[in-house]
Amino acid sequence: MSFKLAVEFIALKDLRRSAKGKKGAASPHTLVVFAGADLAMGEATTKLLGDCIETVTRAAQAAGFKGKASSALELWAPVGIDADRLLVLGCAPKQGPDTPAPADHVSIGGYLMGKLGSKGTADVVFDLPQSPEALAEAAADLTLGMRMRAYRFDLYKTKKNDDADSNGALSARVALSDFAGARLAVKARESIAEGVNIARDLVNEPPNVLYPEEFAKRAKALEKLGVVVEILDVKAMQKLGMNALLGVGQGSAHESRMVVMHWNGLKGSKVGKGAKAKDAKAGSARPIAFIGKGVTFDTGGISIKPAGGMEDMKGDMAGAACVVGLMHALAARKAQVNVIGAIGLVENMPDGKAQRPGDIVTTMSGQTVEVINTDAEGRLVLADVLWRIQSVYDPQFMINLATLTGAILVALGTDHAGLFSNDDELAQRISAAGNATGEKVWRMPLGPAYDKMLDSKFADMKNIGGRHAGSITAAQFLQRFVNKKPWAHLDIAGTGMASPASDINQTWGSGWGVRLLDRLVADHYEK
Ligand code: BES
Ligand code: MN
Ligand code: ZN
Repeated sequence: MSFKLAVEFIALKDLRRSAKGKKGAASPHTLVVFAGADLAMGEATTKLLGDCIETVTRAAQAAGFKGKASSALELWAPVGIDADRLLVLGCAPKQGPDTPAPADHVSIGGYLMGKLGSKGTADVVFDLPQSPEALAEAAADLTLGMRMRAYRFDLYKTKKNDDADSNGALSARVALSDFAGARLAVKARESIAEGVNIARDLVNEPPNVLYPEEFAKRAKALEKLGVVVEILDVKAMQKLGMNALLGVGQGSAHESRMVVMHWNGLKGSKVGKGAKAKDAKAGSARPIAFIGKGVTFDTGGISIKPAGGMEDMKGDMAGAACVVGLMHALAARKAQVNVIGAIGLVENMPDGKAQRPGDIVTTMSGQTVEVINTDAEGRLVLADVLWRIQSVYDPQFMINLATLTGAILVALGTDHAGLFSNDDELAQRISAAGNATGEKVWRMPLGPAYDKMLDSKFADMKNIGGRHAGSITAAQFLQRFVNKKPWAHLDIAGTGMASPASDINQTWGSGWGVRLLDRLVADHYEK
């Protein structure tokens, strides 16, 4: 759902040979070079620019271009250069004089893609002053950013015939010394970019198209990659006693679903469909688990939401979308780890059959919940999914993602997701992966004083806490369904959708979390 983007890697010396004679074609040919602080350029770049370097220096001065990341100097029809356009991309970190952090290269790639547009050809001279290994990683990150920026969601636009944005084709060649190493690194990034863009598609899809059954179908498509996908229908969930999840979906014309995805990247592991709990428990084959809230539309139910902005509640499945995108990324890059991705899929509607405020449901764990507000539905869904995954697979840890509370937007806005955890090591690792990828999290407190706010007159607990600390009481609710097991909850209501446009994201559904969790897995849980 985008223009065609082809990225290829070549050796620097091959670029010099073949860059000639491309200018003046129907679609523009762009030569892209990099400049750091004070216009510092690599050797290959300086050579390639030749006499044009004087023009560049003058133009930079006139335009006030200082080589900062997210800025560029653009020269059309530059004299003495075989290209229609010369793009000098800033790559000095916005803060500090150090070499750019990995997240910066992703952003630079995004910024570059924004400048290139959707048609033509480009040669990118990637000769940043770094070790060959770091350079390969940086180049791979650059292409990740390019692919993320190239994403479009225009499936429902019928008038796009003359629009290059949808029908164009851009082919870019990235030239660097160790292009073989980069090719390897870029393969993994391609998987990650696909994962991010899959998550975005799911979040952007309208709720009349993407209801629980359809969502499950899309998850099922992961089987192409060797993921085992199990779909539980209403009957199966009734049998298991998942009444909290089912209660949320009972007012909808669309049936609820739960999907469990298994990626068994460790050789010889039996964790998966048909595997017994004891197989899952066996040594290092113990899986890690990611769990997503998948409310395909949240009207609030009988505790109905105001009309203004309600359309945004099609994105109330961003947690589930992230889990599917992550499973895609891990399977596509053949991550050496056993992973479970589980999503609870429901539509929260008001109806004669809908759940009422005051209803008491018995969750799969046996604990009872008094539903005070039917709009606090995500936690009800997650309660049963967390319980199921923990009891059947005994994972090393569980991380759930959910667009759980509006209150997290009040607390953190759109720049950090809320992190809640019962385990300092896990929390620290998630924070680090967040900083490394630019998908940042901020840890919030948990504690018995907050937990108490959930006590109910009639049942074991209420599903809401009261006016204060709404994100924390929601997390406390989830924690009541986690036994002594490392667990983290990411409240992504502010980051999963409608976040401000950036160099790497111009679309409503951000695909937030795929890169963060992929990094977490790569850094700590792969063999
Ligand atoms: N899906 C919403 C939370 C949400 C709000 C996500 C804004 C994205 C943007 C959730 O189900 C919800 O309605 N939460 C209520 C909880 C309240 C009833 C305790 C909320 O945040 O108002
Ligand atoms: Mn709600
Ligand atoms: Zn919701």
